Amino acid sequence: MLSPMPPETRDFNPWRFSVAPMMDWTDRHDRFFLRLISRRARLYTEMLTTGAIRFGDRRRLLAYDPAEQPLGLQVGGSQPAELAECARIAESLGYSEVNLNCGCPSERVQAGRFGARLMAEPDLVARSVAAMAAAVAIPVTIKSRIAIDDLEPWPTLSGFVARIADAGCRTFIVHARKAWLDGLSPKENRDVPPLDYAMVHRLKAECPGLTIVINGGLANLDAAEGQLRHVDGVMLGRAAYGNPYLLAEVDRRFFADPTTPPSRHQVIERLIPYVERERRLGTPLKHIARHLLGLFQGRPGARLFRRHLAENAHLSDAGVEVVRQAAELAAPDDIAMINHGFRSVA
Ligand SMILES: Cc1cc2nc3c(=O)[nH]c(=O)nc-3n(C[C@H](O)[C@H](O)[C@H](O)COP(=O)(O)O)c2cc1C
Repeated sequence: MLSPMPPETRDFNPWRFSVAPMMDWTDRHDRFFLRLISRRARLYTEMLTTGAIRFGDRRRLLAYDPAEQPLGLQVGGSQPAELAECARIAESLGYSEVNLNCGCPSERVQAGRFGARLMAEPDLVARSVAAMAAAVAIPVTIKSRIAIDDLEPWPTLSGFVARIADAGCRTFIVHARKAWLDGLSPKENRDVPPLDYAMVHRLKAECPGLTIVINGGLANLDAAEGQLRHVDGVMLGRAAYGNPYLLAEVDRRFFADPTTPPSRHQVIERLIPYVERERRLGTPLKHIARHLLGLFQGRPGARLFRRHLAENAHLSDAGVEVVRQAAELAAPDDIAMINHGFRSVA
């Protein structure tokens, strides 16, 4: 179904543009949908704990469609041997990367001594990364904050990265704000601590041999592209989820891939066989439809599209017709804009 990559686009670092791991949001249905819009954006699973990966229902938790690649598995944990086992499982299932979560501030995560709390334990993270890297050939990467609580940001971040780079990690994704483990909810922790992009730029300047990816508050592709003057890659979370068609420009702008992206209606058409397959397997339509709500954002009819899905997708016998009917309520894309590059005619 997907045409081969043009040869000139193969050399970009694979972390140049990615969509952030987001619990409850970037599930396999969302990733399949996003992949229809961008062939090149790197995608991540939601965070899975080592316990879930080792003892949970793997077919349910870890299954993905090959079309979702390149796809990284994000793991939460802090026991080196368990993390190494999870890395092995990720590799055996064909994931392109295993990413260790050192940035999540939720209480559940803190109780387990992992997530953002690990920023205060660089030696433990280094041992974990060393064990994981020894177990697999796929890249082992880190997603962190710049610091936690009242730790001084630059010494914390630079010390953390240096220690873990020594253990074999080459790629660091940094959500460019602190996490406050006491007093802020996970949601507040994504907005309240101020962003400090300059600190992540400094990290790249001082560690030119590492791949540094910046994350946090990037609202659109102009903001993201501007970051590439300072770092190797950008990761977008909420902006990509809320306005998924923003990804239509990613392959051309970030990977010099000249392939014309599908229009929004073509995305829906290409999603239909997937929806049919999933419905046959018993997946309720609402599990897929909830990720589509932002597809027509900014287009006439976007509200009707959203409303039709919201009012009908939860019905037990709802099938592809609900998605088709919703799409018929939204205006077609401007084909000239898609064919000629969004910026040149915008
Ligand atoms: C609903 C939601 C769930 C998230 N779950 C995870 C997660 O499982 N693992 C993780 O590393 N970050 C998680 N995050 C944080 C994002 O990966 C990202 O770091 C954060 O949203 C900042 O990027 P943004 O401003 O582009 O959204 C989550 C964010 C949201 C909004």
